[in-house]
Amino acid sequence: MKKILVTGGLGYIGSHTVVELQNAGFEVVIIDDLSNSTIDVLDGITNITGKSPAFEKLDLRNKADVADFFLKNEGITGVIHFAASKAVGESVENPLLYYENNINTLVYLLQECKAHRVENFIFSSSCTVYGEPDTLPITENAPVKAAISPYGNTKQISEEIIIDTCAVSKMKSISLRYFNPIGAHHTAEIGELPVGVPQNLVPFITQTAAGLRDELLVFGDDYPTPDGSCIRDYIHVVDLAKAHVVALQRLLLGKNESNFEIFNLGTGKGSSVLEVVQTFKKVTSQKINYRIVGRRPGDVISVYADTAKANHVLGWKAEKTIEDALSSAWKWEQKVRKL
Ligand code: NAD
Ligand code: WQD
Repeated sequence: MKKILVTGGLGYIGSHTVVELQNAGFEVVIIDDLSNSTIDVLDGITNITGKSPAFEKLDLRNKADVADFFLKNEGITGVIHFAASKAVGESVENPLLYYENNINTLVYLLQECKAHRVENFIFSSSCTVYGEPDTLPITENAPVKAAISPYGNTKQISEEIIIDTCAVSKMKSISLRYFNPIGAHHTAEIGELPVGVPQNLVPFITQTAAGLRDELLVFGDDYPTPDGSCIRDYIHVVDLAKAHVVALQRLLLGKNESNFEIFNLGTGKGSSVLEVVQTFKKVTSQKINYRIVGRRPGDVISVYADTAKANHVLGWKAEKTIEDALSSAWKWEQKVRKL
């Protein structure tokens, strides 16, 4: 059984990926410092898979602890690196926190991978690297645009660090550029748990339906889109998680065409904010109070993936619908709020 290190494995996307890895027969060891997750997630993963992954509470910013971990955990064959800070607004206010947590941790991990000959590395990147795209849908060849936020910049810099590392070592890496992950596991054992007021659309919608928020503010209806609201490519987190298993197997089987590859992970279909609200209402029969307000600074107008490379080269395709994703998000919210 291959042993895989999943950093940030108790977080939103990490936990769903651990489930899929265990279901596919991998042995998983998780590192997480619980800065944006809780230990209960481990129970959720165990309830779904019948198996409890190994877990080490560790802050990857502590270089010595990372080195210690690798000394104590022999036989790791691959790393999936999710651990990072991800709040765009917070990154503008506290850029050094983001550079420290998203860049230093990556460097320390890569150094230990090199020392212990761990040569398969999957990285969590983001469609944010494309900025406001020149053409839609967005292919992996689209130019990386100047980052709007320090958070976005950390993803660009991280990819460059990985490229430089792969160029001079046996390291093979796949960077997965996620579009907008939403939804939860169908069992409602795990899901997204934002701390404080959600910044992202779908958790804000589910919390509004649950009565935690009075109304959803829709940021702008005067964009050049069919209904005036922004368009995104919302992808079910379980589909996203499965892509990590496929990408990992690609590296382990040596099927990669170069030692650094990039894949867009999206559905290929764009949905507007107002469409998401309407679809949520339709699939859950819940009322959502919403109000149109001004644009949110930094928002791009329209972003959706060209998925041809992921479909044909990686051999993965998003299978779930936005309806599945929104109803699972609501089921999860109901469970969390005990509704
Ligand atoms: P998340 O916050 O739910 O998960 C990240 C996990 O990493 C958390 O459990 C947190 O406690 C842990 N962590 C953070 N810093 C750590 C450190 N120094 N040491 C150990 N653990 C640490 O976030 P997520 O939504 O699951 O995102 C996972 C990855 O995907 C991140 O790299 C994020 O930037 C990237 N990403 C997320 C989205 C999205 O919309 N959710 C989109 C594109 C890319
Ligand atoms: C989606 C749409 C908002 C909240 C962010 C990061 C990106 C990536 C994914 C990590 C936008 C609108 C939102 C609300 C609204 N993360 N909205 N009212 O901005 O596409 O991407 O998460 O890499 O880097 O920037 O996602 O969910 O915040 O917004 O109208 O209360 O919903 O304006 O059009 P976004 P989001």
